[in-house]
Amino acid sequence: VDPEVVRAFAPGRVNLIGEHTDYNNGLALPFAIAAGVTVRAEASSIHSPLAEVIAAYAHDLDESDEFMLQEPGPADGWRAFVRGTVVELRRAGYPLRAARLQISGDVPQGSGLSSSAALEVALCLALAALGAGNGTGATSAEAPLDRIEIARLCARVENEWVGAHTGLLDQLASLYGAPDKALCIDFDTLEIGPVPLELGDWHLVILDSGERHVHASSGYNERREECAKARELLGVDSLRQADPQKIEELPDPLRLRAEHVLSENQRVRETVVALRDEDLPAVGRLLDASHESLRDLYQISTPAVEAARERLHRAGAAGARMVGGGFGGGVLGLFAPDTPPPADTLEVRPGPGAHLLDR
Ligand code: GLA
Repeated sequence: VDPEVVRAFAPGRVNLIGEHTDYNNGLALPFAIAAGVTVRAEASSIHSPLAEVIAAYAHDLDESDEFMLQEPGPADGWRAFVRGTVVELRRAGYPLRAARLQISGDVPQGSGLSSSAALEVALCLALAALGAGNGTGATSAEAPLDRIEIARLCARVENEWVGAHTGLLDQLASLYGAPDKALCIDFDTLEIGPVPLELGDWHLVILDSGERHVHASSGYNERREECAKARELLGVDSLRQADPQKIEELPDPLRLRAEHVLSENQRVRETVVALRDEDLPAVGRLLDASHESLRDLYQISTPAVEAARERLHRAGAAGARMVGGGFGGGVLGLFAPDTPPPADTLEVRPGPGAHLLDR
């Protein structure tokens, strides 16, 4: 009998604009990229001694992990993602099966391209599909999943198993991405509106700052707490409802944080308009404005990130900004057709969201 196997792919993402708005019920405009994580899951036979075990192998690191399906227990690094995903899926009522997992990917870690969301989402899709097969083959595995629920579940893995209090941006981008589309996400309603991102001969590239970031230990969680404190002082449930005049009265740095969030929401709206008008130079100016706000008001840039951005500008970028959580990672640059981006950049284009692959 052929072993039952499913394979799932989930992409990383680039956030075009709308940074640190997701956990503030704001707006963002990410897209899924070609790079991602693939998880191959092969069911263990119920007669084998591995019947209750998940055995995972991470190709890129040449590391493995093994734990009881019923009781994974905590772990560090990539293992926390695998164990957390198993526990959260089971808690949410997904039937899971003992399996061998093989994980491989090409999203650089800590680079602001959401390697972690790609890992969580690919794991969810593969484990849920294998479980739904229920011994009858992988065909019923194609039953549609509630993708918003999967995004929330993955965020719980980040929050509770990895210790990064991140929002839903990365997971939604990975789950809902589509070729030639950015996704305008309203985090108040979780409404996701596709926006054409047709670049023609323009290029969007990522330049790695060389500095890795880890959300669980960077200033990321601190920024989240500052936003919560600002909301408390303003007496609002979300910064979106805050009166701009009242924000002026907040003590620093809370005032600066709130000003970033409100102006960033507005830049997302303006970027959507610029894309609809096919006005890419205007998109470039909005990227620059977003970066300046993240650097000066949200204060999450670093010298390495600034140096990378300067290089993109010197090479003639029409706009450039840090992407992702900050404190390191990559810088996004937009280049006009007649301006070649530096050779050591990674070109990014909107591609399909997470999906099952042929076995
Ligand atoms: C990280 C988090 C996201 C989001 C961004 C900042 O990528 O995972 O939830 O908060 O930072 O926009």
